[in-house]
Amino acid sequence: MRKDVRILLVGEPKVGKTSLIMSLVSEEFPDVVPYRAEEITIPADVTPERVPTHIVDYSEAEQTDEQLFQEISKANVICIVYSVNNKKSIEKVTSHWIPLITENTDKDSRVPLILVGNKSDLVEHSSMETILPIMNQYSEIETCVECSAKNLKNISELFYYAQKAVLHPTGPLYCPEKKDMKPLCVKALTRIFKVSDLDNDGILNDNELNFFQRTCFNTPLEPQALEDVKNVVRKNLSDGVCDNGLTLKGFLFLHTLFIQRGRHETTWTVLRRFGYDDDLELNQDYLFPPLKVPPGCTTELNHNAYLFLQSIFDKHDKLHEVFPDFDYLSDADLACDIVCLVYDVSNPYSFEYCAKVFKQYFMDSKTPCMMIAAKSDLPEIKQMYGCSPLEFCRRHKMPPPQSFTCNTAAGPNRDIYIKLTTMAMYPHARLRCMCTCNRCTFCLCQNFLNSELLQTVRAKLYAVVLRRHVSQADLKSSTFWLRASVGATVFAVLGFAMYRVLLKPR
Ligand code: GTP
Ligand code: MG
Repeated sequence: MRKDVRILLVGEPKVGKTSLIMSLVSEEFPDVVPYRAEEITIPADVTPERVPTHIVDYSEAEQTDEQLFQEISKANVICIVYSVNNKKSIEKVTSHWIPLITENTDKDSRVPLILVGNKSDLVEHSSMETILPIMNQYSEIETCVECSAKNLKNISELFYYAQKAVLHPTGPLYCPEKKDMKPLCVKALTRIFKVSDLDNDGILNDNELNFFQRTCFNTPLEPQALEDVKNVVRKNLSDGVCDNGLTLKGFLFLHTLFIQRGRHETTWTVLRRFGYDDDLELNQDYLFPPLKVPPGCTTELNHNAYLFLQSIFDKHDKLHEVFPDFDYLSDADLACDIVCLVYDVSNPYSFEYCAKVFKQYFMDSKTPCMMIAAKSDLPEIKQMYGCSPLEFCRRHKMPPPQSFTCNTAAGPNRDIYIKLTTMAMYPHARLRCMCTCNRCTFCLCQNFLNSELLQTVRAKLYAVVLRRHVSQADLKSSTFWLRASVGATVFAVLGFAMYRVLLKPR
């Protein structure tokens, strides 16, 4: 969030810009005002959002166009003031001011605009009929407000809206034309929903909602408020509440409602709490909290960290198995991070099946695939297929088949899971494989497992956990933070689609 806010007032002469600023500061209407008020800074503790706020006046009588352009480019939000009893000043909003501002601001960093109708004490009617079509036409207009410097009506509201437009902009969240949240916002809120869904059942129950609420707003929801929230969703959406809990659809609906009702600061509070910046990207500090390890010190996980990681693993431990006698794979099946095609080295027909599945579904997809030669403790029988599994993998640019058996005294070799996780997290990493065996281009060999890339992944995981260890923080209260940080690894594990060996001979 921004550390300060710069508000600029522009508009035709005599619409009351200076009077508005003076009325805000002195809380009374000044009879005489200069052309231009000095720039004033309102200290953080007296502003509604607790951010220092600079208010800048403009007067054609005292400033050159060049000075105006400079002020426009420095402003975080611009109030275009018109006088409700002066038609010409309203017309100038679209014929002059909006184009002028667009020309003098960076195309990528959209400056929010607020339309301010001053002198509402002079008329009976409202100017909104004229203003609303303008608002619909220009998405950069954040809101409009009618006020009176003379009656002190809506003055503090006006500056509050201006502050809010900078600190909690609707632009990244909502598309007014489509009347819906933007895809990046939906993506971020979906992640937040999944992180908050502690038991991973696709529904936020009362406990989880309270946990979410405490995490974002530091207070639990009263039982009645909880019911009210669910009732609002129930009324509007048939599948927004399920088993007395909020579904993802319901959760997204609530946020759309907040935004549509001008309460987008609520959605921003949630997004920021979960690490998002103003562009809805996760902050670097949130993803990779800096960790200082003093010289000569080593790092290790403490007991709580182990328990925490175990609980995360248990939550997501679903190796999703697809049974062989399928007619087709659903989109949900296909939406995985990595595919394991498992064949039985002792069954001459089982590879053919894997090859068929691969060709039908994954040959042209970007999802990484790994061929597993299972039951490798048994003698390998030649597969009844046009080419050998090794040759097949080579042709399709897959790592060579990975031998695997559960039937060993020492227990199954776990390397295979590390390879799978790595491939899932870095689907293109095999192209950068550091193999020196010269027999295959794409194998995930031991060199790769020892590679810098993988070490970095491990180091980051340690770093995240250790930070909690070092700061002695209560693991429970940091659950969200930690979970989100190790999330990438965990989600990589949960996405595996396992294909079963054809056990029954054909
Ligand atoms: P420039 O500096 O010339 O661009 O004008 P401005 O937009 O700063 O307007 P200013 O504050 O100087 O006000 C112009 C006139 O409108 C003054 O006579 C004010 O007293 C009067 N005025 C300002 N606000 C209001 C209001 O809310 N109601 C009424 N009735 N008069 C107002
Ligand atoms: Mg003035």
